[in-house]
Amino acid sequence: MRTQVAIIGAGPAGLLLSHLLHLDGIESVIVETRSRADIEATIRAGVLEQGTMDILNESGVGQRMRGQGALHHGFELAFGGKRHRIDLTGLTGKAITVYPQHEVIKDLVAARLAADGQILFEVSDVALHGVDTQTPSATFMHNGEARSIEADFVIGCDGYHGVSRPAMPAQEQRKNFQRIYPFGWFGILVESAPSSEELIYARHERGFALVSTRSPTVQRLYFQCDPADHVDNWSDDQIWAELHARLENHDGWKLAEGKIFQKNIIGMRSFVSTPMQSGRLFLAGDSAHIVPPTGAKGMNLAVSDVKLLAHGLEQFYKKGSGERLASYTDDALKRIWRAEYFSWTMTRLLHTFAEATPFEREMQRAELENIVTSRAMATALAENYVGAF
Ligand code: FAD
Ligand code: DHB
Repeated sequence: MRTQVAIIGAGPAGLLLSHLLHLDGIESVIVETRSRADIEATIRAGVLEQGTMDILNESGVGQRMRGQGALHHGFELAFGGKRHRIDLTGLTGKAITVYPQHEVIKDLVAARLAADGQILFEVSDVALHGVDTQTPSATFMHNGEARSIEADFVIGCDGYHGVSRPAMPAQEQRKNFQRIYPFGWFGILVESAPSSEELIYARHERGFALVSTRSPTVQRLYFQCDPADHVDNWSDDQIWAELHARLENHDGWKLAEGKIFQKNIIGMRSFVSTPMQSGRLFLAGDSAHIVPPTGAKGMNLAVSDVKLLAHGLEQFYKKGSGERLASYTDDALKRIWRAEYFSWTMTRLLHTFAEATPFEREMQRAELENIVTSRAMATALAENYVGAF
């Protein structure tokens, strides 16, 4: 098989890239290890920044998001027994949408298939070859047959555990930056109307908790936990007791309970691997960087990488210039490091660190007080949250 751009992985990065390239008249083929049903059912991110909403709308795949997503003009920070609103729109003129990642995936898969785009699901043994030549290729197994795709470019959109980052030449010269946090998030999906119109990020001595939504009938709730814990160690009653203890303050607000129909635990890390390109192989999204989920930046960063790559590839094919592709790593890293900083800041501010001294805990509380009492500090936080940079 021959195509212009071979894309490894059908997550938000790979699917959106293929869609944007198609709109520019550039051919691509996506290979994905999982099934269509599996990628369309995996519960992950929920928050879309303004820039992510804009690109989905501008590229014609925003219709369901506009109809079913919930536009949020603010969120709440809860600590010390009180809730404080961060007025995103008042402070920045922008907003976010809560619309689940797997719905974005459904919209993008549908758009690619409607345009006769090629997505090969359930492939295995993916390997990349000749990435420093003009004719890179990917080999893999599909439906029991050995297949290969030759392309002008290979784009690694295969997430943190994919094959693309390890296939980058000169591994010994790569720079990897990493921080692993000593906690994880226990996430649940609950059949009930939202407890709060806006997201609540809560700091409590027992640990962080987050109230989010998925739809008018489903809540998404998280609480800080031991990353090595297992969901089976927690009865539903224990989960509710923990969430009530961390979230309910003295103002009468109540967390609505309902049937818990999904539970998972995720570990948390910050990670950046550079460079994000070598010859004709480029990395985008989680294959090159990870943020802890507290700032809701992961999927949004994948989208901003892909926007840069789509422009670079358009310039290459339409104008014969490799200039924007050449500066991809530098251009992408500017935003990535700021999002890494913000995600680390939100994580540091809101979680309980077992090893923190009493002094450090007071500093954490004082920083939160600063944010909710200083318009300048709140504006900086809001700008980062909506992605206004
Ligand atoms: P992925 O979504 O990981 O997609 C990679 C794809 O490649 C997968 O489908 C995988 O099956 C496939 N693949 C892997 N290996 C291979 C291979 N060898 N060959 C072919 N295919 C392969 N981000 C936000 O922006 N906002 C949020 O609110 C948010 N909340 C989150 C909450 C949770 C609980 C979690 C876990 C994450 C959250 N994130 C959030 C992060 C976000 O989900 C990720 O950053 C995003 O999925 C990255 O997209 P991607 O396309 O780069 O990678
Ligand atoms: C969700 C996830 C996040 O990481 C976040 O900061 C806000 C919301 C969610 O899954 O709804």
